[in-house]
Amino acid sequence: MDQNEPGTEEDLSPQELAVLRFLAENEEGKMIPEDTIVVPGYSTQSIRSAVSWVIKKGFVDPESSEVLIYTLGEEGLRSLKDGLPEDLVYKYARKNGQVSLSELNNAMPADLVKIGITQLAKLGLRPSEGILKVDRETELEDEMQRRLQCLRSIMDGNTPSSYCLEVFKKRGDMIVERKIQKRKLRINSRGRLILEKSADDAVGQLTPEMITSGAWKNARFRKYDLNLSTENVSGSFLHPLSYLREEVARIFLDMGFSEMRGHFIEYSGWNMDALFIPQDHPARDMQDTFYIESDAPPEFEDQEILPILKKVHEKGIRGYTGWGYRWSESEAKKLLLRTHTTVSTIRNLYHIGKAPAAIFSIDRVFRHESVDWKHLAELHQIEGAYYAEDANLSTLKWLMEEFYSRLGFSRIRLIPSYYPYTEPSMDVVVEINGKEVELGGSGIFRPEVLKPLGLDKPAIAWGMGLERLAMIYYNLNDIRGIYQSDINWLKSFKLRI
Ligand code: PHE
Repeated sequence: MDQNEPGTEEDLSPQELAVLRFLAENEEGKMIPEDTIVVPGYSTQSIRSAVSWVIKKGFVDPESSEVLIYTLGEEGLRSLKDGLPEDLVYKYARKNGQVSLSELNNAMPADLVKIGITQLAKLGLRPSEGILKVDRETELEDEMQRRLQCLRSIMDGNTPSSYCLEVFKKRGDMIVERKIQKRKLRINSRGRLILEKSADDAVGQLTPEMITSGAWKNARFRKYDLNLSTENVSGSFLHPLSYLREEVARIFLDMGFSEMRGHFIEYSGWNMDALFIPQDHPARDMQDTFYIESDAPPEFEDQEILPILKKVHEKGIRGYTGWGYRWSESEAKKLLLRTHTTVSTIRNLYHIGKAPAAIFSIDRVFRHESVDWKHLAELHQIEGAYYAEDANLSTLKWLMEEFYSRLGFSRIRLIPSYYPYTEPSMDVVVEINGKEVELGGSGIFRPEVLKPLGLDKPAIAWGMGLERLAMIYYNLNDIRGIYQSDINWLKSFKLRI
């Protein structure tokens, strides 16, 4: 066969051939469910892709059918764990041979009693005048076992028997039924023909051995069909969060700020102590902060600041009293995942050392936080500081307004707040659809933060959530949506820079 002849649909890859062979050998006149096809040496994924190709090329006839699958609902899971309502009620009554409904209602949740009583009634056990009397009912107990067995079996992924379905299908959230599409396949006459024609020795890939041995000269190569239709894919675009990050960076760069870098892992001493956060502050708690265990922690960088921090925390500086407790050096040497990027600000200001300095970063921080619609445990902060003779409250207010207005938010508000390292402190909020959303904090660094590090000019600083901003910017109801990578959501933004 001429190797240069254009490829035809008749050329099959080894996987495709293997799939056809499997279908031909296992058919026995039946359609074969796609998920039962196994070909040694190939992953499920490549088999699935081969299946799509042989269908597309017309060697296999598919038939889609709807299949019902069952899983346990919330109530089913609960029943499996704590017992079926009817069983609980029955067992409770059996303890003393009888029980009054009011006693039952005191002993367990009312809805549980209600369901339990209804189910028992269906099994022929009814309360009379508010009293449920039971003897040992072996048949009933067997029935309970059977019901539990149903739940267990569904939990194990089995298809429920018609008996189980009858008992549970109408009962609230016991079992959940879902329809899924499954494909069954059958090789057709074209497929059989090509299978007969195909010798196994078609080569799909040229190897170095074939070249050195010269075997390629006589090999029969598999052909590619360049005319086959394939799905159109668009080029790559930025993720919406990356896009917003670039926008934010652009604004600060345009205003003359330089981007600073920092580290995910930091010393408590820099993350907290240098920012005048006392060592017993709740934010230091393991509840809020991820600490890093290390047998051989690295030496504290910037050793010289340790005695300085001790003095500020214990005694303060001129005109300021400090916190007045015994400061611990080992506490300051602890390693953690930085809880805010203000740590980069203070470290950078210390190392830059002279005014004016305008720095920013958009970087990741970590918090031991339970995740919900407006909280993440890993998030990005838009951080920055301006250290200069003329840094003051109006500069800060102007900067915040200017930054947000460049992003398209014309109405922000600054409200009084508290951070141990700034005075005054202000939170930035924006009003969206009548609701105020908090975007972050800001303020003027306290003298206790700056002076001990040799910084004698004022500095304004801020730290704001990038994901919170993204929520508003992209109109999201749930902050988690940003990281869920829903392909349709991502495709709805074609963000290029
Ligand atoms: N670090 C604060 C936070 O994580 C924000 C902040 C930064 C506040 C700078 C004041 C000054 O929420």
